[in-house]
Amino acid sequence: MKSLSFPIDLPNSAATLALGTRLGELAAAGDVIALLGDLGAGKTTLTQGIVRSLGYEGAVTSPTFSLVQEYRGGKLDVFHFDFYRVESEHELLDLGWDDYLDRGGLVVVEWPALYSEILPRQARWLSLEHHEGGRRVLLADPPSAGIPRR
Ligand SMILES: Nc1ncnc2c1ncn2[C@@H]1O[C@H](COP(=O)(O)OP(=O)(O)OP(=O)(O)O)[C@@H](O)[C@H]1O
Ligand SMILES: [Mg+2]
Repeated sequence: MKSLSFPIDLPNSAATLALGTRLGELAAAGDVIALLGDLGAGKTTLTQGIVRSLGYEGAVTSPTFSLVQEYRGGKLDVFHFDFYRVESEHELLDLGWDDYLDRGGLVVVEWPALYSEILPRQARWLSLEHHEGGRRVLLADPPSAGIPRR
């Protein structure tokens, strides 16, 4: 992700998808991406781009109700979490959070600030913001003090 320069302007959904493609190309085994952003900011859209660029061919949907979606069989497995409806850290640990981190895939997390304590140190924090006219802007590594909670 060092080859990206922030902030990145995302005028429409296609731009968010295209950026996801780029992130997928830059991803390596064991990476963790923590995706901040309000409701509807484009976190799932970005993840769809990532999953597609890694060569996964099935449907890519939001893991809101399943808490995690696994996309396997591409260049890199993607484990897509959404912490929004997770009730406790315990629930995530029960789900196998630690194993997911060790499986040599790419872990992407929506609403990571809700359980930021369990995100590993190497996690890349990115933030999608709504801007005027409906466009979005992607920022890197926002300071932890500024991480918005639900
Ligand atoms: N750069 C953009 N400009 C305008 N609309 C966008 C952009 N990126 C994504 N969208 C649109 O925003 C809507 C919400 O996107 P998405 O579901 O990815 O958000 P989300 O952050 O995952 O939301 P949630 O918090 O509910 O999970 C979709 O209709 C998507 O096409
Ligand atoms: Mg989403």
